[in-house]
Amino acid sequence: MTLGKRIKQLSYLAGWQFRALMGRRAPLQSVNFILDQCNLRCRHCSVYAIATPRIKTLAQIREELEYCHSLGSRFIDFEGGELYLWKDESVEGHTYRINDVIDLAHEVGFGSVTITTNAQLPFIGTHADQVWVSMDGVGEWHDDIRGKGTFQRLDNNIRNYGEWRKSVGGQAPPVCVNVVLNNRNYPCLDEIMEYVRSNPHIDQLSVNFHTPFSETEELFLEPEIRNALIDKLIDYKRRGYPIMNSRSGLRAMKMRDGKTICTDRYCWVTNFIFSDGSRSPKCMGYMHGVCDRCGFSMGGEMYAMQHFKPDTLLSGLKLRM
Ligand SMILES: C[S@@+](CC[C@H](N)C(=O)[O-])C[C@H]1O[C@@H](n2cnc3c(N)ncnc32)[C@H](O)[C@@H]1O
Repeated sequence: MTLGKRIKQLSYLAGWQFRALMGRRAPLQSVNFILDQCNLRCRHCSVYAIATPRIKTLAQIREELEYCHSLGSRFIDFEGGELYLWKDESVEGHTYRINDVIDLAHEVGFGSVTITTNAQLPFIGTHADQVWVSMDGVGEWHDDIRGKGTFQRLDNNIRNYGEWRKSVGGQAPPVCVNVVLNNRNYPCLDEIMEYVRSNPHIDQLSVNFHTPFSETEELFLEPEIRNALIDKLIDYKRRGYPIMNSRSGLRAMKMRDGKTICTDRYCWVTNFIFSDGSRSPKCMGYMHGVCDRCGFSMGGEMYAMQHFKPDTLLSGLKLRM
């Protein structure tokens, strides 16, 4: 990011924080689900069961981006489905792909654009500011959740991306890993930490817990196990492992009496545009009535941010600048 862009972003953030203190609740970041077509059938997800997947056109995405920007949002996360399957051929003679969506977001005025991918397809040449790769374990642990051979492809694509990044003098966005712990893969946490730390192509990881949407409740982690894992993660962080979650954000994800404290009350910082085009200030967890068992790291971070925890404010800045 250029110095000018950094200064512009920082001053917008300061203004936003000031307005938030004055009681103005406007989203700072948006999540846009641009398709629900996917190339995997993961245990934790039911997107693949949709008979006719929805795929937005670039024109629809433009309208949605302009709407989010008009609310005050300046950071956008694109989600799916699998973003590397997205294409729009509705305009004769053109095939738009994910980089066109990212360029559009920059053009509309978003300062930071992130994408989340399962890394089954190459992502070399991405125009995003940050790439999040979903990884649910190392080797067979990952394959158990996402299907045979998926870890090998992910590992290869991360390595190929890293080599390419090196070849362009590091002038390409970092790769971060998004881990979701559930009651099948949690014993793999130590292996995940070592894999991420020793992989020169991965910058950091964010750790989440399975949120029990309907049909995937069986993956929910018992609160005692989750709390013990959080203590372990805080210790890993203290020892210098590249964990993006802030210490305060992790603490806020602990469960007390079977419930989290970071409920939807704190989630107004983000707004959502779903794949059917519906617009909401609340995430899918709210719609499913599972906020009190939310496992999304952003829930903890937003709670800690609104309690002015300095470590959380700093890690938020680091993530977006
Ligand atoms: C909806 S997926 C779709 C993007 C892409 N296909 C992928 O796998 O990265 C986006 C992220 O949400 C996470 N996720 C999906 N279901 C979840 C759940 N019930 N609780 C917590 N995280 C979940 C996935 O692991 C993934 O990192």
